[in-house]
Amino acid sequence: MNVVNIIRSKRDGQELSDADIDALVSAYTSGDVPDYQMAAFLMAAFKSGMTTHEMVALTRSMLHSGVVLDLSDLPGIKVDKHSTGGVGDKISIPLAAIVSACGVPVPMISGRGLGHTGGTLDKLESIPRFSTSMDIPAYRSQLADLGVVMIGQTDDIAPADKKIYALRDVTATVEFIPFIAASIMSKKLAEGIDALVLDVKFGAGAFMKQEQDARRLAETMVRLGEAFGTKTVALLTRMDTPLGAAVGNWVEVAESIDVLGGGGPPDVLALTLALAAEMIVLGGKAADVREAEHLARGVVESGAAMRRFEALVRAQGGDVDVVRHPDRRPGSAAVSEIRVPEGVGGYVTAIDAMAVGLASVALGAGRRRKEDAVDPVAGFTLLKKPGSVVQEGEVLALVHASLSSGEHVASAGADLLAAFSFGEAPGEAPPLIVDRLDATGWKRS
Ligand code: URA
Repeated sequence: MNVVNIIRSKRDGQELSDADIDALVSAYTSGDVPDYQMAAFLMAAFKSGMTTHEMVALTRSMLHSGVVLDLSDLPGIKVDKHSTGGVGDKISIPLAAIVSACGVPVPMISGRGLGHTGGTLDKLESIPRFSTSMDIPAYRSQLADLGVVMIGQTDDIAPADKKIYALRDVTATVEFIPFIAASIMSKKLAEGIDALVLDVKFGAGAFMKQEQDARRLAETMVRLGEAFGTKTVALLTRMDTPLGAAVGNWVEVAESIDVLGGGGPPDVLALTLALAAEMIVLGGKAADVREAEHLARGVVESGAAMRRFEALVRAQGGDVDVVRHPDRRPGSAAVSEIRVPEGVGGYVTAIDAMAVGLASVALGAGRRRKEDAVDPVAGFTLLKKPGSVVQEGEVLALVHASLSSGEHVASAGADLLAAFSFGEAPGEAPPLIVDRLDATGWKRS
């Protein structure tokens, strides 16, 4: 392999062969190609674009850079879900329990918070003693016994992505759809799943600000999934306002428990049921999404989904008592209230999800640096959402934080208040779920 020739070809807009891409990715992962050459390649591809053929080759090389799990000896059609990230996005938590309670095995490998967005792992770890690390034999055996397992990325799954992602982060090459799609899909395909449901978000609180970019990302990932024989469905969803009322780690787990108990905010419930229905159909347990949604509602009403969640928490070492009694979790009470300012009244017209996400990171719910620890109880409860009527002095939101973050509470509260917009009229409420894509094309059924 001649790395300089590969970089030059890409720089000049030529299509690379599978062999060139594979050789480059393997040599970079093993340390035989230095960061500076890989960085040059990344920028050349970013500027010149990549063909579908190249993207499939890149995904294949990243996927096979480490362990590719084989779960085919376990019964059932294994289905996972991935969200491109948002604020208040706790959906994976109730979703995994509901789908599993409907008889579809859910092997879920999730990530930590990234930038202003939260991560499922940080949320689950806010349940005292819940462990998200497990070796592969334990992962397989929990999936076989319980039908659901939720862990973090291991070092041996798609190590090329880990290394390339870190380099992209410092070379301004993150925001490139072929790289994002190859990064997400290589990790998901390495899990050994049979089918995948994607929640591709766009809007102020999403990584893709524009709907058309989110559509392109969804199309790219569905195409990649199909190229590797993994049935993939994507829902295109709006992320302008935080999902639900809770933003943070423990507060989002508590809200997920509400959903499993038959309550929870309408937007969280609607998105959970829509994604669950897609997973249940892909898992072969229902003929269409209508029947699947009926099954999903049934396991919530019967308590089977809640029992499955408790079993998951128990299996992964977590404290089941706080799942049954969320108020008993130490530090869960609010430490401050945010009120509607003087002279303001009418309606909440918008809540900027990006601003809320950044305020929650400042409060300690997320990380500013990779090595930072998160405060498991830090977060907000939004008591008013767009469309709510508000009066001067009324409580808009609650702030939760451990005592150690006391000094951040006032400034994070001020940042949260600044995320709210008020007006005389309620404003429009555009649909949360905008479209649906599968291998046959876009179609909201
Ligand atoms: N999430 C990923 O896993 N990879 C990306 O490139 C972007 C978001």
